[in-house]
Amino acid sequence: MRFRNILGRFATGVVAITAIDPETGRPTGLAANSFTSVSLDPALISFCVAHTSSTWPRLRDAGRHCVNILSEPQREVCLQLATKGGDKFAGLEWTKSPGGSPVIDGALAWLECSVEAEYVAGDHVIVVAQVHHLDKHHDGDPLVFYKGSYGRFDG
Ligand SMILES: Cc1cc2nc3c(=O)[nH]c(=O)nc-3n(C[C@H](O)[C@H](O)[C@H](O)COP(=O)(O)O)c2cc1C
Repeated sequence: MRFRNILGRFATGVVAITAIDPETGRPTGLAANSFTSVSLDPALISFCVAHTSSTWPRLRDAGRHCVNILSEPQREVCLQLATKGGDKFAGLEWTKSPGGSPVIDGALAWLECSVEAEYVAGDHVIVVAQVHHLDKHHDGDPLVFYKGSYGRFDG
């Protein structure tokens, strides 16, 4: 708990990692704040996923996934994608990236990626992903996660 509290003092953005589940043909996803840029050339990003995630194997098996950078009004979207089970995309509007991954309406930007490497690290896996397509999307303020709650960027 102390470890979590200390790390919570590092403010992050929040992303939604989304794909079309190859088994159901329906969009699915999870929320993550462990997203970061890794390399410019080649374009690589990373995020960490808990071994307990039931959604990550579906995202990985999809081949391509989208990292959606969430905006401040998307707090509910974040909570919905962070909830285990059920229809993750219930009530969400989305379109497809060039490779067919879900781009959520209202996201600030999206990056369509494929998994380059996975490294087991404790109770998580560090995913390094190659970026194939990317674009800005909605203009607005970012969703900020800090000390276990949500806030806004006051720039
Ligand atoms: C703000 C926020 C950030 C999160 N960041 C991560 C993360 O970086 N890695 C992770 O594995 N889960 C993270 N989660 C939890 C997942 O979104 C989700 O709850 C978890 O994957 C369980 O759902 P699943 O079984 O559908 O995968 C985060 C949740 C929230 C609300």
